[in-house]
Amino acid sequence: MKVLITGAAGFIGSNFVRYAMKAHADWEVVVVDKLTYAGNLANLEDVAQAPRFRFHRADICDAGAIGRIFSQEKPDAVINFAAETHVDRSIDDPSLFLRTNILGTQTLMDVSRKLGVARYLQISTDEVYGSLGPAGRFSEDSPLQPNSPYAASKTAADLLARAYFKTYGLPTLVTRCSNNYGPYQFPEKLIPFFVTLLHEGKQVPVYGDGMNVRDWIHVDDHSRAVLAVLLHGKPGQVYNVGGGNERTNIEITKLLIAAMGRDASSMKFVPDRPGHDRRYAIDDAKIRAELGVSPQVPFEEGLEATVRWYLDNEAWWRAVLSGDYLTFYERWYANR
Ligand code: NAD
Ligand code: DAU
Repeated sequence: MKVLITGAAGFIGSNFVRYAMKAHADWEVVVVDKLTYAGNLANLEDVAQAPRFRFHRADICDAGAIGRIFSQEKPDAVINFAAETHVDRSIDDPSLFLRTNILGTQTLMDVSRKLGVARYLQISTDEVYGSLGPAGRFSEDSPLQPNSPYAASKTAADLLARAYFKTYGLPTLVTRCSNNYGPYQFPEKLIPFFVTLLHEGKQVPVYGDGMNVRDWIHVDDHSRAVLAVLLHGKPGQVYNVGGGNERTNIEITKLLIAAMGRDASSMKFVPDRPGHDRRYAIDDAKIRAELGVSPQVPFEEGLEATVRWYLDNEAWWRAVLSGDYLTFYERWYANR
């Protein structure tokens, strides 16, 4: 099987490529990534030498480039991880989010349709459901009520997958996962941001009252679910993926402060994110029942290993913070 994976120079996509290539030694993997600020080829360095791995630098909104890559590679399946992903950036400037997340998805699905791709998996997010009060969980049938420009753009893409299935018969699948953590996450997101700040002896900025709740899942558990949906999911269907692990931001912050050997004075409260979703919680009964998938990584173990990874890979995040990783592409190809 040849799988074309977009956005795989980012956090989840790169972890998924590593996971899938290990699980399926006969798969050919074609990565397509624009290498935005969030794309880093160093994330793929250990798998990139494999003869069954190929990389194309391209924008998913560029129909010409995407059409040429698809005609050349003729993938059996497509997984779209590529997106603008940081909520705070979408509040600053929504336009890029709408372009990449909506028009990019449309471009990929149009080309997939023309080439008769056998399975198209859209990586969506639990943020499409909006925010919960203290009780209840999101099921696949919950109303879609996105609250940030990021979430709204992901909702549009998610619904395009439904529309392309209903209208054109493109065999689309959708996953809606909760907050991922693990290695290679860009240090603008809560956990790596706070670990790197604490390492520098700086204070970490907790938004609002810090009582917002997220459901944290290890990225390998997300990869396990994506693989199962790609291989065994039913076209036209949506699958929630969650960690069953709700934590307030204060709780996460305290765990990180303790893991880094610092004290409560390392935490400061700052003005809240506009439109900040209060609580996410996932009902993953469907993927458990239909595909036998459930999270395997205990949170305490996963978090400890993740903090250890950032401490052991200081060169990785220092290169990211300095912007040095942006030249990795040129260096990668210069060495071949
Ligand atoms: P990321 O920001 O780490 O990586 C995004 C990748 O997409 C980067 O490699 C970037 O270069 C690439 N990209 C961006 N615009 C592109 C374009 N126009 N053309 C080609 N490539 C482009 O993101 P992530 O956290 O790994 O998230 C991956 C996917 O998973 C996203 O679709 C996101 O919405 C979804 N998701 C993320 C989480 C999470 O907790 N991080 C949870 C649920 C779903
Ligand atoms: O739920 C899935 C989503 O999780 C994905 O779709 C998004 O791509 C991903 O970025 C993530 O969104 P969040 O907004 O939940 O993640 P973030 O790491 O930005 O923030 C997690 C929580 O921590 C959130 O309640 C905001 C808070 N926060 C974040 C930062 C960066 C702070 O309190 N301080 C901070 O500095």
